[in-house]
Amino acid sequence: DLLTFSVIKADVGGYVGHSNVHPELLETARKQTAEAISSGLLIDAYVTNCGDDLQLIMTHRHGVDNSEVHQFAWDTFVACTETAKSLKLYGAGQDLLSDTFAGNITGMGPGVAEMEFEERPSEPVIVFMADKTSPGAWNLPLFNIYANPFNSPGLVIDTKMHQGFEFEVMDVIDHKSIRFVCPEEMYEMLMFIGAPRRYMIKHVYRRMDGMIAASASTQRLSLIAGKYVGKDDPVLVTRCQSGLPAVGETLEPFTFAHTAEGWMRGSHHGPLMPCSFEDATPSRFDGPPRVIAAGFQVAEGKLIGARDMFADPAFDRARAQANEVADYLRRHGPFEPHRLGLDEMEYTTMPQLMEKFKDRWVDESE
Ligand code: 13P
Ligand code: 13P
Ligand code: MG
Ligand code: MG
Ligand code: MG
Repeated sequence: DLLTFSVIKADVGGYVGHSNVHPELLETARKQTAEAISSGLLIDAYVTNCGDDLQLIMTHRHGVDNSEVHQFAWDTFVACTETAKSLKLYGAGQDLLSDTFAGNITGMGPGVAEMEFEERPSEPVIVFMADKTSPGAWNLPLFNIYANPFNSPGLVIDTKMHQGFEFEVMDVIDHKSIRFVCPEEMYEMLMFIGAPRRYMIKHVYRRMDGMIAASASTQRLSLIAGKYVGKDDPVLVTRCQSGLPAVGETLEPFTFAHTAEGWMRGSHHGPLMPCSFEDATPSRFDGPPRVIAAGFQVAEGKLIGARDMFADPAFDRARAQANEVADYLRRHGPFEPHRLGLDEMEYTTMPQLMEKFKDRWVDESE
């Protein structure tokens, strides 16, 4: 009896603007998950939010990509959208890009990170949830957790990790994936994952036995919709300890407020600020991008938690660094590299401007 850990999330309306989820939406979602637990579909569920994104953290025994679990998540988001509409919340139903559910929620707008595993004698799991950024934001921390011995001394000290980890990387433009083994292919892999807009880490496996260690959401809303419809606001599930990176090794990369795309109108670069659940309310220039970490001990599928892992003064300096970098980048106003490059603006303003000025260009090739 393998356990499935599913995190499915969507922005179905912001309170106020894009800064938070209204308590009534959380209440609606909690009622629905309570029913799904009673009916036996789910073993347990934890409902929360990061910024304006509603998060359904669920355990069950139906495997990944299960149509009933996905249908349940979709129906919950639809019900919450109704609540959002009644309160005229901002962007009600924003991430529901389709009118009808067709068996699998992947590709319909909501973000999905799932994994199936045999529950260990002790099973600490951390769910990372971000707002105002894209799934590529996980590349740098995932590399540090599973491939950098200066971050994770477990790679040096724990013999179960000496063979390293295998990374599954998605090419979200060409819709294909590749697996790299680390440490051998670390340098080549970095060439790809260092370009996090296109190449995104989807899964990480321990090489010793193929055990799944991490699973991330990698949907890109603009590629699904063909236009800007809000940021992806990704999630990441990681298992910890006993031959995997420890809880503290898994959190450690977030002491660096690294630069990620997102922030205002999804069109800027900004620092990823680790924060407590309470502070996951991006307001300044709709940001800066936030990440929260919910820690659970899983017991027979029950979610013991959540512990608010970034509610620790040891992350204060990362938060201060994020504010400093935010000030620095903001001074660039509409200039790159604060504003995203032209390839990304193709989903927003550029096509209209190119059309508007198409007859005004003077040929200077002579
Ligand atoms: P404790 O002695 O507090 O259990 O710590 C053990 C450990 O390995 C921390 O990384
Ligand atoms: P969200 O994806 O969090 O809704 O952000 C959209 C946006 O444009 C913020 O300025
Ligand atoms: Mg929003
Ligand atoms: Mg959001
Ligand atoms: Mg969004």
